[in-house]
Amino acid sequence: MSQHSEKRRLTAPDIRLRKGREKIVSLTAYHAHTARLIDPHVDFLLVGDSLGMVMHGHETTIPVPLELMIMHGAAVVRGSKHALVVVDMPFGTYEESPSVAFRNAARIMKETGCGAVKLEGGRRMAGTVTFLTERGIPVMGHVGLTPQSVNVMGGFKTQGRRQEEWAAIEADAAALADAGAFAVVLEGMAELLAAKITRAIPIPTIGIGASAECDGQILVLEDMLGLSPSVPRFVKKFAELGAAIEDAVKDYASEVRASQFPGPDHVYAMAKPDEPRARVTKMSKTKAS
Ligand code: KIV
Repeated sequence: MSQHSEKRRLTAPDIRLRKGREKIVSLTAYHAHTARLIDPHVDFLLVGDSLGMVMHGHETTIPVPLELMIMHGAAVVRGSKHALVVVDMPFGTYEESPSVAFRNAARIMKETGCGAVKLEGGRRMAGTVTFLTERGIPVMGHVGLTPQSVNVMGGFKTQGRRQEEWAAIEADAAALADAGAFAVVLEGMAELLAAKITRAIPIPTIGIGASAECDGQILVLEDMLGLSPSVPRFVKKFAELGAAIEDAVKDYASEVRASQFPGPDHVYAMAKPDEPRARVTKMSKTKAS
């Protein structure tokens, strides 16, 4: 059942206003069909650059090009109507300078129709966040485990599990809030640190492998549906769709091999003399209705 009472699509300021009021629910989405299914139940859809790993088989998010984010972002916008759509800026498209970031973020906004972008990094990105927000581009930040820095971190490593690491991560989150970010993802960090940051900053924190005290939560859809071959410890599987797909495909294969599929319901009889031409399929709407 839909959780949305509002007719219009949620915006970045709507998400910002949830701080201390109402939990924020979000998931990643990469294409129109899944966006349509999950849109009524979430507040924002993130077209995460994790799509490079989940959809395209890369080992990290580093190879993801801007054009791929734009294609998937546009599909998710077409498939949704309630949730804010946030599109990740991929590695190499924003770090160089605020003006390069603006040019690429503007392309994402114009070519997808999304309502905000997300970028990774704390204090080092604060100037860019201000530059973008002052020019009409809402920005979500992302600190803690930042996957685009995998080569500097030496792997996908949890953050802030030693007290001496806290100050830098706290300063990163605070800098993003000061810079004008409307929310910040806290990924893969000690629970106590995520809770402390959530209490300290005035913008919503969105946890993933962080804390239930965050203002909202996000997971990669395929991970929580049981479709990913392996998942981080922080993922709870809310379904086992991988096993369901395998079972369905096994049944299909055995029915084809035994000439049981297609059966009488799945083939076309000859038309009666005055019968109009039938459509091959009932059109399923891609654009959310
Ligand atoms: O790319 C992504 O999916 C993300 C989420 C995990 C927060 O950044």
